[in-house]
Amino acid sequence: MKIQLWREKLDPYAQAVSELVIKLDNTRTEYRRKGIYCPIESVSGRVKEIPSILDKMIRKNISFDTLEAEMEDIAGIRVICQFIEDIPAAVEIIRKRTDIEVVQVKDYLNTKKESGYRSFHLVVRYTVNTMEGPKELPVEIQIRTMAMDTWATSEHFLQYKYKGGLPANVREKMAALSRATDQLDEEMMNVRRDIMDAEINSLLEINLVRDIVTEIENLYRVQNEREAMKIQNEFYRIYKLHDMNELQRFHDELDILSEDNRSQTVNFDSEPRKFEWHV
Ligand code: GTP
Ligand code: MG
Repeated sequence: MKIQLWREKLDPYAQAVSELVIKLDNTRTEYRRKGIYCPIESVSGRVKEIPSILDKMIRKNISFDTLEAEMEDIAGIRVICQFIEDIPAAVEIIRKRTDIEVVQVKDYLNTKKESGYRSFHLVVRYTVNTMEGPKELPVEIQIRTMAMDTWATSEHFLQYKYKGGLPANVREKMAALSRATDQLDEEMMNVRRDIMDAEINSLLEINLVRDIVTEIENLYRVQNEREAMKIQNEFYRIYKLHDMNELQRFHDELDILSEDNRSQTVNFDSEPRKFEWHV
């Protein structure tokens, strides 16, 4: 038997995981910046631990040299959604990407597993660029709701505790909890509209306030401090009203003021324009 270089084997998987987490997280940021509800609530990833890889190699009779071809979950990404209805939308986001190729779908969402496990899985192929050149790897993406995730995480620990299989009474408890989880997800759908509206409003406020403080900072840099202070105080006064229309109105007025300033800067100032970076 040749020496088996585990670090060398697993490094590209770690690269794939961190790249994919960043990319999917960026999609979420993009939605938020635009004030649009994002079906992806959070993203995490992991490289399978060596003991788990070893156990699976023994169980499925897989050799070290054929790991890339035969074990598709060494790199794992988990996409968490708030609502069941968000899951197909999250899948669509992934399918549309040109850097991810979906090669297999496992629907444990509509057909839950005997254990009570529910989730939607994609096995995808993703290319990382390493010192040795491009390397295409399989990645397993698990898409599920927060409730499904709670169940799966707890049940996973139980599987670890009872290596030979869960005792009947524990299995029954988990099956009952799985049904309770379904019910929670079902009932969450009834408040989805309200929650989405609240989320979009909070995003709107976040984006408005971010714009406003940027504009105030820009004004401070091109105008005198007193003027900027006056505007800042007015902003704090309006913010306390918790009235989105007022905040929007203040934002728009500030926009016009900055726009005027910008043209003045262009006309009378030979200095480089300080506004250019405000977005
Ligand atoms: P392994 O189960 O990993 O040996 O591979 P498989 O080819 O049987 O794939 P499967 O689709 O059954 O499972 C893939 C992954 O989904 C697992 O590695 C787990 O992360 C998760 N999973 C599947 N079934 C269960 C389950 O009953 N409980 C929990 N907690 N997770 C599960
Ligand atoms: Mg399995």
